[in-house]
Amino acid sequence: MGSGYLGLHRLSILTHQQVVLPSCHKVLLKFHTLAAVGNVATVAPFTASFKRYDGCCLCSRACRSMSNLIIRCCSTNAFVIANDEKYGNKQIISINPHLYDYILANVREPEILRQLREETASLHGSQMQVSPDQAQLLAMLVQILGAERCIEVGVYTGYSSLAVAMVLPDSGLLVACERDAKCLDVARKYYDLANVSHKVNIKHGLAADALKSMILNGEAGSYDFAFVDAEKRMYQEYYELLLQLVKVGGLIVIDNVLWHGKVADPMVNDAKTVSIRNFNKNIMEDQRVSISMVPIGDGMTICRKK
Ligand SMILES: C[S@@+](CC[C@H](N)C(=O)[O-])C[C@H]1O[C@@H](n2cnc3c(N)ncnc32)[C@H](O)[C@@H]1O
Repeated sequence: MGSGYLGLHRLSILTHQQVVLPSCHKVLLKFHTLAAVGNVATVAPFTASFKRYDGCCLCSRACRSMSNLIIRCCSTNAFVIANDEKYGNKQIISINPHLYDYILANVREPEILRQLREETASLHGSQMQVSPDQAQLLAMLVQILGAERCIEVGVYTGYSSLAVAMVLPDSGLLVACERDAKCLDVARKYYDLANVSHKVNIKHGLAADALKSMILNGEAGSYDFAFVDAEKRMYQEYYELLLQLVKVGGLIVIDNVLWHGKVADPMVNDAKTVSIRNFNKNIMEDQRVSISMVPIGDGMTICRKK
């Protein structure tokens, strides 16, 4: 503990009062108890400060910068307090269950989307669908753009695609790429129920093949908006194909760019994490687009083609 590892100090909260500290630190924390299930309490610090004991040689660099303090509670919540002078001691929150309930209570989820979400909840892979707040953001981006022609890569049972199709004009088009026929059956049912089937062109099969044939078909530069939410190791390929298909000023939105936080943990190096991490690095350096990484859901990056 207490190394300069990414400039972070990692603390583990064993209960809502016990804290494992770097031996060279004195930490002052006060907590709100947010939720308790069985003997596990979820807590949020509302004040946190820490001091280095004199003579600490292990972490003096990190201590001097007072960079970040990460507190892990019950291994499910991370509360991040950015405390770096370079950022004006900006404090940022992370989402705990209470706050997320509040956010969801402030999402205007159309009834048909709610029904689809609830039907999907009992299906295998239900955790894959975007959250209501993400779907709302996607729909708003489409509306802000005044988009008419959209693409989705990874439909599953249709939650995000339905959210997009519903805000397209009647003449609009959403090309929906999905390889799983059973998932598409559910999606089709809801496109019908929501009266948007005429706007959705389903491409059943491998998404990369669909995108390549659209380019061969002369559709490059004719789309306003694309959403990528399929095989993570294919992100770079999807992105390059979509960059050809969207017009200048069009958006490509990519889901799961924070990958449950694993992208920021150098100890995690499985193929998917490395692939998303590399993808994020490439996007960061890609001058063909302007970018914004948004910490919503599992993280979405919005790219605007220059
Ligand atoms: C995360 S889910 C999509 C969730 C969806 N956007 C939603 O909000 O409900 C990913 C989907 O991508 C599909 N998929 C994965 N790899 C694919 C590929 N190579 N081509 C087409 N679809 C693929 C999977 O079958 C799965 O349904």
